[in-house]
Amino acid sequence: MLDANDPDPAAPIHPVWLRVPHWLNALAVFIMIFSGWRIYNASPIFPFSFANGLTLGGWLGGALQWHFAAMWLLAVNGLVYLACGLASGRLRRQLLPVRLREIAADLAAALRGQLSHDDIRHYNAVQKLAYLFVIADSLVIVASGLVLWKSVQFPVLNQLFAGYDVARKVHFFAMTGLAGFIVIHLALVLLVPRTLIAMLRGR
Ligand code: HEM
Repeated sequence: MLDANDPDPAAPIHPVWLRVPHWLNALAVFIMIFSGWRIYNASPIFPFSFANGLTLGGWLGGALQWHFAAMWLLAVNGLVYLACGLASGRLRRQLLPVRLREIAADLAAALRGQLSHDDIRHYNAVQKLAYLFVIADSLVIVASGLVLWKSVQFPVLNQLFAGYDVARKVHFFAMTGLAGFIVIHLALVLLVPRTLIAMLRGR
């Protein structure tokens, strides 16, 4: 499979098996977050609710339907991304290793506005960390979501999360992490718009 580390200069920066799941994933995540906020509003666990205008589904039943529909897209699509990434070796080559010293150096350079974006085929250490974080966070969100959806059918997962109530809080904080990632991710894409073209067209 061709990818960013392929010696062939004609190889795409992002192979098609990465781009299609990336955009389907973006769609699934947006549906899940906005319908999730409506579901949360029906029984908040913290002393605040989300503005209904920011939510999807219209009411609890509608939001649950959106959430359950997009959950399949998120899970199946995520599995395709992980399977292709592992099988091709791209996941390891692009995202590993990520070293503490490099993260500190790249973060300091970014804050001084001196981080180079000349070669968008290679991710800097902060980018690697952010992508690894969002992959791990998505796994936590799906696992805790399974406990909320079918806690009786997934007893081991249920125990791992110390029960339904803890799983609900974990699910909420994982959503917050995902939302935080998206805000930073979009800001960085705006800073280096060339990366958006590459994620759309492959080159
Ligand atoms: C409309 C929303 C989004 C836009 C415009 C966008 C844009 C991009 C772009 C341009 C890149 C390539 C970055 C580069 O080459 O430097 C990228 C990579 C990536 N994005 Fe997004 N993204 C969006 C939503 C999301 C969401 C919701 C997630 C995850 C929940 C996500 C996860 C990732 C990951 C993990 C990569 C690295 C993929 C890899 O190389 O394996 N993105 N995105």
